[in-house]
Amino acid sequence: MLVIPVITIDGPSGVGKSTLCKAIGRLLKWNILNSGAIYRSLALICIEQKINVLQLERSIKHILIDFNLNFVYKNNKFIVFLDNRDISQIIRKQEVSELSSYIAEKPLIRNALLQKQRDFLKTPGLIADGRDMGTIIFPDAKVKIFLNASLEERTKRRKLQLKKQGFSVNFEKLFNQIKDRDERDYNRKISPLLPASDALIINSEHISFKQVLNNTLQYAQEKYLIIKDNNLYQGLGIGNVKQHHKT
Ligand code: DC
Repeated sequence: MLVIPVITIDGPSGVGKSTLCKAIGRLLKWNILNSGAIYRSLALICIEQKINVLQLERSIKHILIDFNLNFVYKNNKFIVFLDNRDISQIIRKQEVSELSSYIAEKPLIRNALLQKQRDFLKTPGLIADGRDMGTIIFPDAKVKIFLNASLEERTKRRKLQLKKQGFSVNFEKLFNQIKDRDERDYNRKISPLLPASDALIINSEHISFKQVLNNTLQYAQEKYLIIKDNNLYQGLGIGNVKQHHKT
């Protein structure tokens, strides 16, 4: 039986999971599952079709029949397509973020999404980012990463990211929004956010993105999931792999 390699990257909002995922995806030319985009797309469907979370929960199986979500790299950009519509920007809106967090608490919805997420597992490999990738969706993954950073640091980064996109937001308001989403992620009854027992925990607070990437790739090499090849790094213009450290 062909075993397709998987790297899972879990962690709280704004910790840099998707940036790490995209960088590894580009380097290894593996497929990407951005599971948060699935919850966000469902939130978008609710908003546009004017249905509430309860109605979504009741009709989730039916909705998923025609739910065609894809992640594509085009002109160096990571694009989320729902059917053939580019929804990359619209699903980042605050109201979508907020609603997706409530949708993610619903057991019927999470259960209905189990197979949908596993269907992204295709050759040559998959990098899956979310909250329960290592614990629930791909428990057999050989390489599991749990990224962490303080709420303050994540708020700072998100504020900067929004600023680059031309949005000015109040730090305190953003801090409280992320805090609320964290609470829902950590405390929900089904699939709460937590590191898998066999995950490598990387605290990204005081190290650069390059170090986070290096630590992840070094770990994947130690687990024999990828072959040590320094040419691998040329695409991103970064140096050789350094020693990772557990935190
Ligand atoms: O990672 P994100 O911010 O795009 O996720 C959007 C919401 O979906 C967030 O509130 C957490 C939730 N989520 C989840 O519960 N499980 C996942 N595997 C991914 C995201």
